[in-house]
Amino acid sequence: MDRSGRPRLGFIGTGVVATALARGLTDAGYPIAAVHGRNRRRAQALVAGLPGAILAPSRQDVVDAADIVVLAVSDDAVAHVAASVRWRPGCAAVHCNGAASLDLLRAASDGGAEVGVLHPLQSFANPDQAGRLMRGSCFRVEASSERLRALLEEMASAVGGRPFVLGADPTLYHVSAVLASNYLVALLDLAASLWTEWGATPEDGLRALLPLVRGTIENIDALGIPAALTGPIARGDAGTVERHLAALRALAPHVMPVYKELGLRAVSVALAKGTIGSEQARRLEEALGSPDALSGESEGGAGCA
Ligand SMILES: NC(=O)c1ccc[n+]([C@@H]2O[C@H](COP(=O)([O-])OP(=O)(O)OC[C@H]3O[C@@H](n4cnc5c(N)ncnc54)[C@H](OP(=O)(O)O)[C@@H]3O)[C@@H](O)[C@H]2O)c1
Repeated sequence: MDRSGRPRLGFIGTGVVATALARGLTDAGYPIAAVHGRNRRRAQALVAGLPGAILAPSRQDVVDAADIVVLAVSDDAVAHVAASVRWRPGCAAVHCNGAASLDLLRAASDGGAEVGVLHPLQSFANPDQAGRLMRGSCFRVEASSERLRALLEEMASAVGGRPFVLGADPTLYHVSAVLASNYLVALLDLAASLWTEWGATPEDGLRALLPLVRGTIENIDALGIPAALTGPIARGDAGTVERHLAALRALAPHVMPVYKELGLRAVSVALAKGTIGSEQARRLEEALGSPDALSGESEGGAGCA
């Protein structure tokens, strides 16, 4: 611990999360003792912005210099990296993998270290926007001791985050995050790709769709679900949905499965909103789940995944 009683932090890994956390925690007054990364140039660049931090020649030097070592490496590398160093009682190993629990750090706990998880529930595509995005984000915290849990909660709060303990296996929690974030990107990629059907580019499509996406997110934030749902399914306009399906069958059959799956979910949301009744729901579900639509999809959809 430093003179203020704050833990000395070490980082193994120099990617986007290591950079975001190290910069944010430095700004919040935490001492960063040492950083090590496979890519020396990136490690040097990170250390240059962290007053007092040293560029550690090896992972072991980070462990030896720090009270809490953040293993901010790719998910699949965490266990291997943890097993590649000697741990000691009194220090802690922490990973940032949202889908995994403490068992990834068995090597560290076998070596006498406390172990924990600090998972920012946020999408960091580059470190420069990460500081802003961390503020207000939830951070899943898990630890082998109350002491470490409290320290990790303080770290999350110090960067403007909202720490919480899940108290369950984190795999489905991570599925939820992937659906809400990564699959939103995939969905917009699919939506924008349709613009090539009339000679525009996917980039044109994305630029046109983004204000719609922002408006939808604002509605979800202000009104919640189901109130935020609009569009043909919320209105019960089955004729429009049937026209969509006919066009997809003819021009873009690969989009049918996702359109129908999410459409069926939207029917449930519309029912919960109360803007359609059971008869309209039945007609929509028939269109979205009908064997006719399915056979049309397979006729034209040799490329369907
Ligand atoms: N990005 C996000 O939005 C986000 C959000 C929440 C949590 N997380 C979690 O944060 C952790 C780090 O993710 P990231 O997004 O920061 O990844 P990243 O930017 O790709 O950085 C990964 C880091 O791990 C290092 N690394 C990869 N394989 C390694 C190995 N076998 N041995 C040693 N180092 C290795 C890389 O070194 P090189 O530079 O040499 O390749 C790099 O420094 C992951 O557990 C991830 O699940 C990420």
